[in-house]
Amino acid sequence: MNIDNFGKQKKIALIAHDHRKKDLIEWVLENKELLSGHFLCGTGTTATLISEATGLPVTPYKSGPLGGDQQIGALIAEGKVNFMIFFWDPLSSQPHDPDVKALLRIAVLYDIPVAMNQSTADYLLTSPLMHEEHERHIMTVRDIPREHGL
Ligand code: PGA
Repeated sequence: MNIDNFGKQKKIALIAHDHRKKDLIEWVLENKELLSGHFLCGTGTTATLISEATGLPVTPYKSGPLGGDQQIGALIAEGKVNFMIFFWDPLSSQPHDPDVKALLRIAVLYDIPVAMNQSTADYLLTSPLMHEEHERHIMTVRDIPREHGL
């Protein structure tokens, strides 16, 4: 297990499936001041809509169904995203469901805070840890169970 430090300024990924985009935009608007102190990025459509609605800079990656979730996952693995608000839709299946599952797995593996609904997002954003450095615990290759004692 490795220990890594989050800085005070979080690198936040914002993602919402289509039926949840309105809720995420409203949540960002409500929390605009606090979020403006952090680095924001997101999947293509979500990032663009949030930027237009709030005026906040949100770096857009590809749209989720076109690989955006995988890009965000790669950024988490590289330490370039360390916080995620992901309003996924619990009432419809997505063409990119495997990518969603992979993204959530990577987020757990790299021990980043993740909110998947508004209440959790509220709890996260009001945590004192938002204003502090924070230690996370990341598994290393030595933690992977291997056959043949590799
Ligand atoms: P979008 O992607 O922001 O481009 O709509 C989100 C998603 O479906 O994962």
